[in-house]
Amino acid sequence: AGRHALVTAGPTHEAIDPVRYLGNRSSGKLGFAIAAALAREGARVTLVAGPVALPAPAGVTRIDVVSARNMAAAVEAALPAHIAVMVAAVADWRVEAAGAKLKKAKGAPPPALKLVENPDILAAVGHHAARPRLVIGFAAETGNLIANAGAKLARKGADWIVANDVSVGVFGEDATHVHLVTAAGTEDWGAASKASVAIRLAARIADTF
Ligand code: CTP
Repeated sequence: AGRHALVTAGPTHEAIDPVRYLGNRSSGKLGFAIAAALAREGARVTLVAGPVALPAPAGVTRIDVVSARNMAAAVEAALPAHIAVMVAAVADWRVEAAGAKLKKAKGAPPPALKLVENPDILAAVGHHAARPRLVIGFAAETGNLIANAGAKLARKGADWIVANDVSVGVFGEDATHVHLVTAAGTEDWGAASKASVAIRLAARIADTF
């Protein structure tokens, strides 16, 4: 109670031109559920949300963003915080966007998209001068779940990684299966609803404080 928690959620959309974008299948459900659960624990919650079709949870300050760079700027502006939970499925790359709509021309080859790496928001927060006391990242993996999550813990300066196997249907679903990976080891939280994972994670965060 009384701590500031910063949560990111949802996908980001990276413009290809004024009418098209690159995106991903994140629904934002888990991140919104975590923001709601932290608010119920008494935290002051700032939720930085990519483009999702979800209502803001009660008692949460919501900041809507579109691209990874928008999200990075909103997170930076929302610091300092005691807790950061970076749930968003941030696009790893953006497109060198065209200022005008790309048009098909008869006989012309399809346009080549030039991708540029986006800032890593979790790594920036994990290595920030105003680093939150507890930094939690997520890992969406389709193989080598625990090894990949462990590597992310070190690389991104996170305290915990919540690892999610997305090789089975997870995107947009109400259920998931996560492992909590910390320096102390790995816990299998089993198959559960996203709402119950959110409540369990918020309770664990509260215990830690
Ligand atoms: N993340 C972020 N900014 C990015 C990319 C990822 O903040 N530009 C965060 C996510 O919010 C998540 C964690 O980093 O908490 C893991 O993201 P993931 O895409 O699984 O990791 P990557 O480093 O992109 O590795 P890869 O996609 O190669 O597995």
